Amino acid sequence: MQQALIGVIGGSGLYHMEALQNATEHILDTPFGKPSDVIVTGIVHDVPIAFLARHGRGHRLIPSEIPYRANIHAMKQLGVRYLISMSAVGSLREEMKPLDMVLPDQFIDLTRRRVNTFFGDGAVAHVSMAQPVCANVVDALARAFNEVNLTQSVKLHRGGTYVCIEGPQFSTQAESHWYRSMGASVIGMSNMPEAKLAREAQIAYATLAMVTDFDCWHPREAHVTAEMAIGNLMKNARRAQQIAAAAIQIIGNERPPSIAHAALASALVTQPNEMT
Ligand code: ADE
Repeated sequence: MQQALIGVIGGSGLYHMEALQNATEHILDTPFGKPSDVIVTGIVHDVPIAFLARHGRGHRLIPSEIPYRANIHAMKQLGVRYLISMSAVGSLREEMKPLDMVLPDQFIDLTRRRVNTFFGDGAVAHVSMAQPVCANVVDALARAFNEVNLTQSVKLHRGGTYVCIEGPQFSTQAESHWYRSMGASVIGMSNMPEAKLAREAQIAYATLAMVTDFDCWHPREAHVTAEMAIGNLMKNARRAQQIAAAAIQIIGNERPPSIAHAALASALVTQPNEMT
């Protein structure tokens, strides 16, 4: 099996990687079923990567249907050590405007019907999620953003809390105000349990969040619709592609250490091979 150093999971509107050379499609299977779609391996700036469309190419899966465990397991099978999650989000903050980008450093998981662990059935582990994203991958994304956004036409916000809801419906206004009162900065439907599973798989994870709307809390802005979110995402698609490619080059050259790479060192209570 071809190996990859970096995985990229493309969210809504991001169904392939433009910079990918020598693209090869892999139909993978895992103990948790099939991933969302084929995984495409190839080379970006001399770095071996693996790309997966989170919702499937053509957007066939609602967030609750995404096979999160299969997706992360497949990335692990391919040898992935760093995972870049490209994700559309709504903004819960006045200063985070549609077309801005955000590098969240925290998550609140409000999902309700997704299996969120590889453990259980006799194998017990409690990984730390205190720092859920890899600071070094975030740093690479920020540097990539600055390389690409030379005209400074789009703003980058470093840090912020991503609240993940089950969906597929957008939030009620009461919920949107509640998420704001919790201190959340952006809202999405797909980064959990992806970030938790990546941590359990000891893969360094970070999200490049692209703001598409103001959800429905803002007194003067239109409430989010799918059409609005996709429209704004498309306006940023090219820039997102360029940032991902530049971040791959940085991570590939530097191969930074990550707390995620040793996540199981202090997490295991019962070893998987002790299972009866
Ligand atoms: N993805 C993009 N915008 C969103 C919103 N307002 N709520 C949840 N997920 C989103």
